[in-house]
Amino acid sequence: MKTLVIATHPSIEISRVNAAWLQELRKHSDITVHELYKAYPDENIDVAKEQQLIEAHDRIIFQYPLFWYSTPMLLKKWFDSVLQYGWAYGPDGSKTAGKQFGAAISTYGSEASYQAEGANRFTLEEILRPIEATTHFISGTYLPHFALSDVSNLSDERLAQSTADYVHHIQTAVPKA
Ligand SMILES: Cc1cc2nc3c(=O)[nH]c(=O)nc-3n(C[C@H](O)[C@H](O)[C@H](O)COP(=O)(O)O)c2cc1C
Repeated sequence: MKTLVIATHPSIEISRVNAAWLQELRKHSDITVHELYKAYPDENIDVAKEQQLIEAHDRIIFQYPLFWYSTPMLLKKWFDSVLQYGWAYGPDGSKTAGKQFGAAISTYGSEASYQAEGANRFTLEEILRPIEATTHFISGTYLPHFALSDVSNLSDERLAQSTADYVHHIQTAVPKA
């Protein structure tokens, strides 16, 4: 299983969580790390190159810090420009069919806040529906998400544990039945 992690963080140099995750992922030869803001500092996405990367991998993980219950801007632009009619969907669009897609996110809000009764009102599973719906639309299979919440109260131990758990998740996650 060849995994591509598309990491999108506009200020990775001051990131704690996403930077630690990427540092660990780079040690694994079965995982390709692709940082969008590093590849495209001018935010000008090379669509053909991105499509080739997707075609060369079986499992794609979108890793990002949750921004306003959504993705950082460049990842939204990636969806808008890379998932083209005739490539990802439409009568002849089958290049993403059968591939696995999932999200790995960090959040300021705590786990308790991402509940129906919590401060953020919706669960992360609900907030990630656009990624799940997009996966369905492009004939992929959606993986359970991976998340680390409450990042402002993060001990070095919890970060190290989440990093190990994340690698394990990437290597073992199976699509929901
Ligand atoms: C513009 C912006 C929007 C954010 N929106 C949310 C949000 O909707 N929910 C949330 O829990 N955290 C939100 N955060 C907090 C980030 O998710 C948090 O800082 C990030 O996950 C930390 O990861 P890092 O250490 O890799 O930077 C936001 C942060 C920024 C800068």
